[in-house]
Amino acid sequence: MEKATQPKIIIAIDGHSSCGKSTVAKQIAQELGYIYIDSGAMYRAVTLFALRNKLAADEQVDEQALIDRLGEIKIDFRLSPENSRNETYLNGENIEEEIRQLPVSQHVSPVATIGQVREAMVALQQEMGKNKGIVMDGRDIGTVVFPEAELKIFMTARPEVRAQRRYDELTAKGQLVSFDEILANVIERDRIDSSREISPLKQADDALILDNSDITREEQLDWVMQQIQQMISA
Ligand code: DC
Repeated sequence: MEKATQPKIIIAIDGHSSCGKSTVAKQIAQELGYIYIDSGAMYRAVTLFALRNKLAADEQVDEQALIDRLGEIKIDFRLSPENSRNETYLNGENIEEEIRQLPVSQHVSPVATIGQVREAMVALQQEMGKNKGIVMDGRDIGTVVFPEAELKIFMTARPEVRAQRRYDELTAKGQLVSFDEILANVIERDRIDSSREISPLKQADDALILDNSDITREEQLDWVMQQIQQMISA
């Protein structure tokens, strides 16, 4: 696909946890030469800060204490020279690996329900997208962060399929995890993400739905690139 002559757009990818949003978002960014931003990583970074500072434990978060310390949190993304991946940094430290582990996953949903946390993250996300040419994935990208995004995709897959993918990912990294625990975590995060008062996970009216339970990654990428091509050349 021609990169230079085509107008740059914003592509918003929302959907349930562990359904491969980041995989497809990264592929699109690579194909188009766009920036990829994982907005979930930003909520995970705030969660890691809360855990390290004893503001969260046992799936509970001390909301006010975290709000009071939001000014101490600086999040940015830097391209790794080793693997060309955009990695997450918290106050100058690479935290890309640590934010994917279970303690963060178990505490991130309550952190992401805090209004002031969301306001701070949304402002940062909008700043990152102001020059377009960006693919961002998350839960509220097409509804709240970039309601004017030219292309919105809402991704989903059956919970068991998503839990299996996450299980495979973690065990491949040598982590000892239980499938049932992961499935329970996937289901619980769906519940919290969809039922929270502020910016709940919901499909934007103008989003295209992509259920990838029964399709391959190649089929998925073909479909998405077709939608982008149609959008850009319309
Ligand atoms: O996509 P993920 O699993 O890394 O997201 C981590 C958590 O952050 C998840 O519980 C939902 C929340 N999140 C959110 O509320 N809004 C976003 N834009 C992205 C993630």
